[in-house]
Amino acid sequence: MVLPEEQARLYQPRPELLPAAHVPSLSHYERLYQRSVEEPHEFWGDVAKEFYWKSHHTGPFLNYNFDVTKGRIFIEWMKGATTNICYNLLDRNVNEKKLGDKIAFYWEGNEPGDSAKITYSELLHKVCQFANVLRSQGVKKGDRISIYLPMIVELVVAMLACARIGALHSVVFAGFSADSLCERILNCGCSLLITADAFYRGDKLINLKHIADEALQKCKDRGSPLKKCIVVKHLGREEIAVDGTCTKSPPLKRLCQDVQILWNPATDMWWHELMSSASTECEPEWCDAEDELFILYTSGSTGKPKGVLHTLGGYMLFAATSFKYVFDYQPEDVYWCTADIGWITGHSYLTYGPLANGATSVLFEGVPTYPDVGRMWSIVDKYKVTKFYTAPTAIRLMMKHGEEPVKKHSRKSLKVLGSVGEPINPEAWLWYYRVVGEERCPIVDTFWQTETGGHMLTPLPAATPMKPGSAAFPFFGVVPAILNESGEELEGEAEGYLVFKQPWPGIMRTLYGNHQQFETTYFKKFPGYYVTGDGCRRDKDGYYWITGRIDDMLNVSGHLLSTAEVESALLEHTAISEAAVVSHPHPLKGECLYCFVTLRDGHEFTKNLTDELKKQVREKIGPIATPDYIQYAPSLPKTRSGKITRRILRKIAKNDQDLGDLSTLANPGIIKHLFNSRCDTKQ
Ligand code: WT7
Repeated sequence: MVLPEEQARLYQPRPELLPAAHVPSLSHYERLYQRSVEEPHEFWGDVAKEFYWKSHHTGPFLNYNFDVTKGRIFIEWMKGATTNICYNLLDRNVNEKKLGDKIAFYWEGNEPGDSAKITYSELLHKVCQFANVLRSQGVKKGDRISIYLPMIVELVVAMLACARIGALHSVVFAGFSADSLCERILNCGCSLLITADAFYRGDKLINLKHIADEALQKCKDRGSPLKKCIVVKHLGREEIAVDGTCTKSPPLKRLCQDVQILWNPATDMWWHELMSSASTECEPEWCDAEDELFILYTSGSTGKPKGVLHTLGGYMLFAATSFKYVFDYQPEDVYWCTADIGWITGHSYLTYGPLANGATSVLFEGVPTYPDVGRMWSIVDKYKVTKFYTAPTAIRLMMKHGEEPVKKHSRKSLKVLGSVGEPINPEAWLWYYRVVGEERCPIVDTFWQTETGGHMLTPLPAATPMKPGSAAFPFFGVVPAILNESGEELEGEAEGYLVFKQPWPGIMRTLYGNHQQFETTYFKKFPGYYVTGDGCRRDKDGYYWITGRIDDMLNVSGHLLSTAEVESALLEHTAISEAAVVSHPHPLKGECLYCFVTLRDGHEFTKNLTDELKKQVREKIGPIATPDYIQYAPSLPKTRSGKITRRILRKIAKNDQDLGDLSTLANPGIIKHLFNSRCDTKQ
């Protein structure tokens, strides 16, 4: 139980951080903030001076249109300036900043004891080698490369190699299904896929190559030109399993097992074979600040994933600056972000942001519960992690197992804790603050999106008094507003739609291949504003509180899903005639999926059918989308115009009888029936 006074209290930053802090007080934040929004050219111009540019911008520093009524939406920062982001992350740090021998990543494998490290100069060499490999495979500037890898160093190498030669990476989370991978490859016309043999997630073996093969077959059937697949030998790494015997300590024995993979000599190539003959020098491709850097897919409310496109100049400035200030980065830090690189958090705050600052990070392959629930804290102690960034769902999972596994580890190194992905409930916030951080570490609750490229609302560790569950104030360059349904800006204490009024450097530039959908999704509803799709409240002290999505999206364990994509996966089953999916509260995942299905004639609702439906969704989208509840509905409540009323279905799922106005319904009689046949327990 969280007492009201605990929640309402302000939690002050601890004085220990102040002497070295980049922003040591709230008034300091306010000064910098004012400048960042009133004189964005000067503010970001100063940031840009820290980076290497081969030539200066030719047009205005910032040029944009945010108003659909005035024409096409566009955003350009530093157009005409030429640079290379990989050069800035690696060559500049190695040569100019003399950080060549500094560790870029401590890699911690799924299996305790399986670990490695890589310095900045080693990383630079590997990236150059792989960039040469890509070039030798005919990859050119502007080509799209699909990366489907577990959390291994090669994933970072592959991304940066693409960036070095001006190719766009499209990283697909290794938990996604063959269908999801295929969809993403086709959407942006990828010419090459990078994957691995297999990996362990906890004690589960995932034969990634097998899933990739299936995806490639599907792509081929649908006319994709993708003909090349580079395979990292990860589970079958030679240094571990030479001729089938393991030379490493007993816990690693299981890694020696041979995974059966199919090899297609026409498409498949081993990563290590290509790398063995590649040069460690590679001239970067000098790109325009507004050239494309990557595509990352996020769920769209129409059901099809949207290819969010980021360009390199603005994204580099924003990822680097937000990493520096939000984690109050110091050169001796060891930083650990637990997010997978398959999500935007792993792009901005495990790859681009930390490397741009010359930081040392932990790259963890496994899960928080393997081999036991103390794993996160044992990693914190092993590497003396100072800044730690995770998701509320992971915190709630830890909470469930009590304080004991946390307290068994010292955690003395920790200085700042971060949260991202969904609203953090005050109970989880307080547990994170008291138990994990021992009231010594400020919590930065960072609100942002795949589309924003970096943090939008967040406390700063040494400057912002915290309120549990509030993402506090806007980051530099970000101008939030709260609108009512008619699009009027609300002042002071208010609740409504969260929008942003002017561009920040990290904002997406378009949806790949669909600029019209980009304008419709983010700029149509309220002309002149970027619309987040989130609801938000501002309290009397000006703190922002995200109240959750206000569109047909739901957030399962920090991952956005659209109800439409799950519905269309269900509808592909021959037994289903109609499906409606709503969000339902879940103690660990935050939200989960509650599905209502109507059946075609001749089909029966059985346990077997629910199992089949769950499997179908898992295979179409991936394990994160697996429904928790599936309820049979003889029919669905609809308006007279035939629209399914999800508002009512949400209440039925929650057993909330307070239904409000039902006068627009065509078939109110069905409601009572649905209440009586609810799924109460997890199926
Ligand atoms: C949506 C974006 C940003 C990286 C991970 C998710 C929700 C994200 C918070 C937070 C409340 C949050 C929003 C947002 N969200 N962070 N700190 N507090 N809500 O990226 O998949 O693009 O999802 O996640 O609803 O719109 P994403």
